[in-house]
Amino acid sequence: MSFGTVQRTMRLRWIVVILLAPVCVLASFAQTRPSARDLLAQMTLEEKVAQLSQLPGIPTDDFKEQVDTAPEEIARKYGAGSVLWVSDPKEINRWQHIAVDESRLHIPILFGLDVIHGYHTIFPAPIAMASSWDPKLVEGAQSVAAQEARAAGIQWTFAPMVDIARDARWGRMVEGAGEDPYLGAAMARAQVLGFQGKDLTSPDHVLACMKHFAGYGAADGGRDYDSSYIPEEAMWNVYLPPFKAAVDAGVGSAMSAYMDLNDVPASGNAWLLHDVLREAWNFQGFVVSDAVAVHSLITHGYARDGDDAAYKAFSAGLNMDMASGTYLKYLAAEVRQGRISMQQIDDAVLPILETKIRLGLFEHPYLDEGRLQQVLNAPEHLETARAAVQRSVVLLRNEHNLLPLDKSGKQIKSVAVIGPLADAEGDLLGMWGNIGKPRPTVSILQGIKNKVGSAVRVEFAHGPNIRRDIASIFEGNPLVPMQEQPKQSAEEAKRAFEDAVAASRRSDVVVMVLGEIGLMSAEAASRSSLRLSGGQQELLEAVAAAGKPVVLVLVNGRPLEISWAAEHVGAILEAWYPGSQGGNGIADVLFGDANPGGHLPVSWLRATGQVPIYYNHNRTQAPEDAPGFRSRYWDILTTPLYPFGYGLSYTTFSFDNLKVSQAEAKVGASLEVSVDVTNTGSRAGDAVAQLYIHQRAGSASRPVRQLKGFQRVSLAAGAKQTIHFTLGPEELRFWSPAKKEWAVEPEQFDVWAGEDSTAKLHGEFRLTQ
Ligand code: NOJ
Repeated sequence: MSFGTVQRTMRLRWIVVILLAPVCVLASFAQTRPSARDLLAQMTLEEKVAQLSQLPGIPTDDFKEQVDTAPEEIARKYGAGSVLWVSDPKEINRWQHIAVDESRLHIPILFGLDVIHGYHTIFPAPIAMASSWDPKLVEGAQSVAAQEARAAGIQWTFAPMVDIARDARWGRMVEGAGEDPYLGAAMARAQVLGFQGKDLTSPDHVLACMKHFAGYGAADGGRDYDSSYIPEEAMWNVYLPPFKAAVDAGVGSAMSAYMDLNDVPASGNAWLLHDVLREAWNFQGFVVSDAVAVHSLITHGYARDGDDAAYKAFSAGLNMDMASGTYLKYLAAEVRQGRISMQQIDDAVLPILETKIRLGLFEHPYLDEGRLQQVLNAPEHLETARAAVQRSVVLLRNEHNLLPLDKSGKQIKSVAVIGPLADAEGDLLGMWGNIGKPRPTVSILQGIKNKVGSAVRVEFAHGPNIRRDIASIFEGNPLVPMQEQPKQSAEEAKRAFEDAVAASRRSDVVVMVLGEIGLMSAEAASRSSLRLSGGQQELLEAVAAAGKPVVLVLVNGRPLEISWAAEHVGAILEAWYPGSQGGNGIADVLFGDANPGGHLPVSWLRATGQVPIYYNHNRTQAPEDAPGFRSRYWDILTTPLYPFGYGLSYTTFSFDNLKVSQAEAKVGASLEVSVDVTNTGSRAGDAVAQLYIHQRAGSASRPVRQLKGFQRVSLAAGAKQTIHFTLGPEELRFWSPAKKEWAVEPEQFDVWAGEDSTAKLHGEFRLTQ
């Protein structure tokens, strides 16, 4: 063949290739990215039921009771909607190969895990992130969590948890954004955007799952899993808004809660799963139950047996059974008996298949183990985590500017770091921070040592160990490997106590780190008393009596009883569970390299007997600002120790010049409110400007105050900024129990702006018809 012939042949080949290319691309596209309806048309009933099932990577007793086939076998034979509790990347790929290579239709598995505030780089717990009042920070942190999780093969996180919590006895307050629907909605939105990004197909995002739908935070007596009784007006006005915000932000899935809501378990509650979610909100994603909650419908005394449980959950609107095996065992029979139609099954399967398609799982079912380490160890993730700590801690008290401490060795030569959480690592991550593969954690002791180097002598004393009185069901769980502190004899505890007091005497300043180990504030971690437990209060008092200035750093998941400390201790810094960079971030704040700007997302109780305590309660027949009002209790003030929205800084701010754009406006119109914030101190810092409203009369009694706007602003010393808020129909409406609908009413309104929910700067306006 001459050169010319070769060239001609080549040209001809190229022409063929170019002409055929679109056909091939289309063919391969169709092969790799199928349509959900085409898939459905090929599926047997059993394969559909498998898509409606989430298989447990660690089989639960409930699952084993229902299903005698191993989860892997099910995935091989029928495929699987999802698998949870597998966090090892190699294992994830192994499972995925079973589904993709061996199951008949090769439908990939969606892997779900509780990536609540980080996968490898652990951020502060959600209650801490909410304390930042910084939705952008929260979005950024969850997008880092998404990147790491997705790289490790997790495409679905069971977050955000957006349950409103007004009772600190409930152990899961730590997982949410606190007590307020407006702040809660902002945090819900930010988290959904962070997890899901704009495009779920990107290798950096995961499907979010808002939970626990809905009312879980109102468990009777703060006892986890107990019944919730919530009137419809409180559902719409208080408990549902963060969920609605998540739906509006495009959240792709929802998890039904465990508890009975007004006597109907949330996982079989058609009002929640159908009327609210699908009808009122037009939610297009899918609903998964909480773990084994479908089977638990029998335990509740709501379903007669497995058949009935599967029927009730499914017909209420629950797409996917998490780990109970009840759908696997009963759903196909329900269809054959005609109680559930094939159309209903198809409708339930469709959003699950569509989600897998949107996530790009058909094109990229496996994780790239080569890329994993690079993503997990990205140095910028550590920086984001450290900044998150700095921005989320809340300075509760700072008498005589005890903080920041001097790190140069000139003003203080030695610091005693004391307390059972001072050297804690895993406990700084909270329970969910221990799932998966957390990075090494910087303890507070280590953070302080890193900060002061050799300039200041650092002495550590642990003090007595702290333990739960009744062990956690999670202790020793392979998924969240958390431990109690070891048991001690009375003699050992006494010696540890005395060593700690002695160490404080030898030092110029004491940093005490007290609170709750991770297992004390989590799922299944409710408590009847919020005292500093296990002798910590006694230790604090003994150390304070030694006479050295004391800085109390709290590591915990909810407000604790610290009324004594609030009078006798120089400074109190709420660190929450601060995550991987906890020690470094807290040392940054303690020694003044960062200025705290966090504010409380909860009202801080004086005593446990005050709960539930929240700022947006009704005005009542005897308001607290009425002349002569003392307190509703005779042994304690009604007010919280620290109000919702409260937080100090190393500088001070003033709020003036509150302006409302119109004294009168029509119902349906929007008003502008502005306020000037000035940094009146001598160093730069962040203020959180908060806007509250009150409707003076109407078709129902309205709360004394409601947060309706906030903005965190950084101000140089002496700088002033005007902050603008909009009050539109969205902010001014409420769900009226009299009208049984949303209403904006022609009434007189108060407005306040300031640094917390007791802000004094006042304005007003009237809405007219
Ligand atoms: C039970 C918890 O209530 C829920 O929050 C979690 O997502 C699931 N278990 C899965 O781990």
